[in-house]
Amino acid sequence: MGLEPVPHGTVTVVPPCLLLHAGEPATLITAAHIGTADGRTLVRLEPLSDVVGSIVRDVDLRTIDEAELQLLDRTWAERGLLVVPGQELSPDDHLAFARRFAEVDVNRFFTPVPGHPEVAEVRKEPDQITNIGGGWHTDHSYDPAPARGSILVARELPPEGGDTEFLHTGEVLSSLSDAFVDHLRGMRAVHSNHHVFGVGAGYDDNTDIQFNNHDQTGEAVHPVVLRHPDTGAESLYVNTAFTTHFEGWTVAESKPLFEQLLQTIVDRSTTVRLRWEPGMVAMWDNRNTWHKAHNDYHGHRRVMHRVTVAGVELSAA
Ligand code: SIN
Repeated sequence: MGLEPVPHGTVTVVPPCLLLHAGEPATLITAAHIGTADGRTLVRLEPLSDVVGSIVRDVDLRTIDEAELQLLDRTWAERGLLVVPGQELSPDDHLAFARRFAEVDVNRFFTPVPGHPEVAEVRKEPDQITNIGGGWHTDHSYDPAPARGSILVARELPPEGGDTEFLHTGEVLSSLSDAFVDHLRGMRAVHSNHHVFGVGAGYDDNTDIQFNNHDQTGEAVHPVVLRHPDTGAESLYVNTAFTTHFEGWTVAESKPLFEQLLQTIVDRSTTVRLRWEPGMVAMWDNRNTWHKAHNDYHGHRRVMHRVTVAGVELSAA
């Protein structure tokens, strides 16, 4: 099975549901890919940017066959983000699709969807100010084996706003000096959720938003530069929400380098900003992407369903 480029010169206008960041109202995609297996055309994949994300067309995620699944699996790992418009997944379909990749890694803090304890609800009501995931982060980095990826389905959307933005944390590495990356390769960082979900902290202190199990927090240590378990590519694995400090360094000692690193990732990465449509599915790889949910739709409801797929312990590059 391979990815074959459509003949050069094929130009596809980004559909109105998708925008590139940096104020570009729409952009042109100059190449598309069609996966083939044994000469058979499979789902259609188009890049969202040079680095991060592909849009998947001509597919019903409820009925894809094994060859299509393998193509999605590989592209998900390489591109970090798959966007699949026009789906009609019930919560059971959502779970069944996720389980084709791995077991579900249930988030212990999120309120589940009623009747579906393995599906986390990402909800903001019209009278709420705080949203979930409003800063750059990656999901579950505080776990010893962080979730491979998250599969989000749009259920109820505000009339405008509520986009989710993504970047690929492998992109920045090529713009850093070899010596600096070598230095980072020797480092590990602590990821914690005490300050986010813990008793009296962050979301617990916030009556605007409901999370659970504030006494079940934890932390984990991961390499700062990881080797992606599926692709073998290197990625920077620190994030704004959950990484607290470098292993063996104090928080204060870590702060200057840590903040510089986080800012460099944002400054040097291409970001893709997703404008949701009802039923649309976005699935991101937590080992090589960051995402943030824009909180610009006060007075309106936004409801999304998220299933997280189990991952493995991470190894250094
Ligand atoms: C999340 O951070 O998992 C939620 C993203 C979103 O609501 O767009």
